[in-house]
Order: sequence, then C-alpha cells, then structure tokens
Amino acid sequence: MNIFITGASSGIGNAIAHEYAKRYANTQSIIGLVARRSEHLQQLATNLQNQYNISCAIYPLDVRDATALEVAAQDFIARFGAPNIVIASAGVSRGTLTELKEDITAFQAIFDINVMGMMHTFQPFITAMKLSAAKGDTAQLVGVASVAGIRGIPGSGAYSASKAAVISYCESLRTEMQHFNIAVSTIAPGYIRTPMTELNQYKMPFLMDADVFAHKFANAVEAKVRFKIIPWQMGLIARLMRLIPPRLWDYLMKNAPHKKRIDWDWL
Ligand SMILES: NC(=O)c1ccc[n+]([C@@H]2O[C@H](COP(=O)([O-])OP(=O)(O)OC[C@H]3O[C@@H](n4cnc5c(N)ncnc54)[C@H](OP(=O)(O)O)[C@@H]3O)[C@@H](O)[C@H]2O)c1
Repeated sequence: MNIFITGASSGIGNAIAHEYAKRYANTQSIIGLVARRSEHLQQLATNLQNQYNISCAIYPLDVRDATALEVAAQDFIARFGAPNIVIASAGVSRGTLTELKEDITAFQAIFDINVMGMMHTFQPFITAMKLSAAKGDTAQLVGVASVAGIRGIPGSGAYSASKAAVISYCESLRTEMQHFNIAVSTIAPGYIRTPMTELNQYKMPFLMDADVFAHKFANAVEAKVRFKIIPWQMGLIARLMRLIPPRLWDYLMKNAPHKKRIDWDWL
C-alpha cells in the first residue's frame, strides 16, 4: 500500500502517517511525506523506519507551488508507482477580519494553501491513478475539510470559506472520479488536539487526541466513506448547524469567541 500525505510535519498529517505506518508495518509499503519543514519530515521518516520498518520518501515543499508538487508526484510515481491513497491534510487556520486591509494577504494565503494546495496535490496523480484503478488497484483521494466549513464562523471568514470550498470541491471531484473507480473521501475533523488548536483560547467541545483521530480517519478511508465528520458527536452538531435558519445563526454567533488574529509573518 503506497500512501502520499501532505501536512505530515505536524498534527493530523503526522498522526495519520504514524497510523498507516503501524497498519502496514514490516511491509513493502511506502509513505510519501510532504510539508515545508524538511527537518520535521526527516525526523518522522527516521521514526517510522525505526518503529515500524516502513520506508518513507520526503518532499519538503510548499503546497502553493503546483510545479513542486508535480515534480514530487512524478518522482513518487517513477520510484514506487501510483499511490493507492493521496491525503491532502496541509492547511492553515488563523483569525481574519474583512474590515482590516492587512488581512487581504492572509485571506489569499489561507485560500491558496487550503484550497489550491489540495488541488495541486491531487492533480498530478490522477492520470497514473486512473491507470492503476483500471487494473483493479485501490485508488483514493482524501481531502481534509473541517466542521468550520459547514457554516460561516465569525472571525474565521477566510478559514470557514476555504473549508466550505474544500467540501464542495471534493464533492465535485468525487462525482468526476466515479467514472474511473477512484474513490474520493472528504473527512471533516471537529476539534483535534494539534498545534493548530493550541492557539484557540475558547472551550473546544469533544476535543480529540490526534492519534485517536488518525485511527478513526484510517478506518473511514478504508470504508471509502464519501463524507464523514470525526468525532461523531461533532457530526451530530454539524447536522443541527445545517438546519439552523440564518436569522437564528446570526443570533447564536453574536457573542461567539473569535479565533486569534496573529501577525502574518507565518505566511
Ligand atoms: N486540528 C483541528 O482541530 C482541525 C479541525 C478541522 C480541520 N483541521 C484541518 O486538518 C489539517 C491539519 O491541521 P492540523 O491540526 O494538523 O494543523 P497543524 O498541526 O498546524 O499542521 C498543519 C500542517 O500543514 C502543513 N502546511 C501548512 N502550510 C503549508 C504549506 N504552505 N505547504 C505545505 N505544507 C503546509 C504544515 O507543515 P509545514 O508548516 O512544515 O509546512 C503542517 O504539517 C488542516 O487542513 C486543518 O485545516 C484541523
């Protein structure tokens, strides 16, 4: 089983890499690891080799760079064949406010990373995956969305909109890929304990550890779910969120806590 994961240097992507390494320990499986921080990827690859006897190929790059992802995909396919599963987990979340001119670059970056980065990740694999799927191999694309994409959250305009875009994009892709036997799964996490949620200064309901999430994630991917929210309690809440009329949503969100705005040098 060959798996390609973006956002592997931290949080959910890192936990998913561990989960798959554990599942395919001592096999010929290869895990492709993508993120910008190469030293984190190198450390992860060493750990997975030592702990699970699994080989990794690391690709330090920025998912905004379509060419870099194309080169990485070509390298992975040439060395190991088409991946069975491509997981786009790379993403960023920061508070944003439309009234602030300085947040324009943040909006752009959040969209470029969360939405275009996912498209850049899937695109260069599809031709090879069509061929492998036609031969009967597993071929699956997995997009990491968010419950924040279900409704607009105050103070998170860029993030909510980017994850709503991810949900719609993955649904479009799923309908397209069904003709080629390539499964597309959208997994929307609730609150997962990672460096991303460390920033949040408000109470996070049903906060889940990343390794527990990764186990449930891999089960859902194996079941080829079309769309799933993890944990299930947040799935129930998301169903209710969808039913709330706009006027009541506005009332409920009037005093909702905002995600922290920080300086944008992280871009
Ligand atoms: N944690 C949650 O509660 C939660 C909830 C809902 C959805 N999510 C989603 O889950 C995904 C992972 O989040 P996380 O909680 O694991 O956050 P995290 O710990 O901050 O990890 C984010 C990952 O994305 C990578 N990344 C960010 N920008 C990148 C870029 N331009 N190019 C390449 N890689 C980039 C980071 O690597 P480098 O910095 O090394 O590049 C890191 O590996 C995100 O899509 C997030 O929106 C998380």
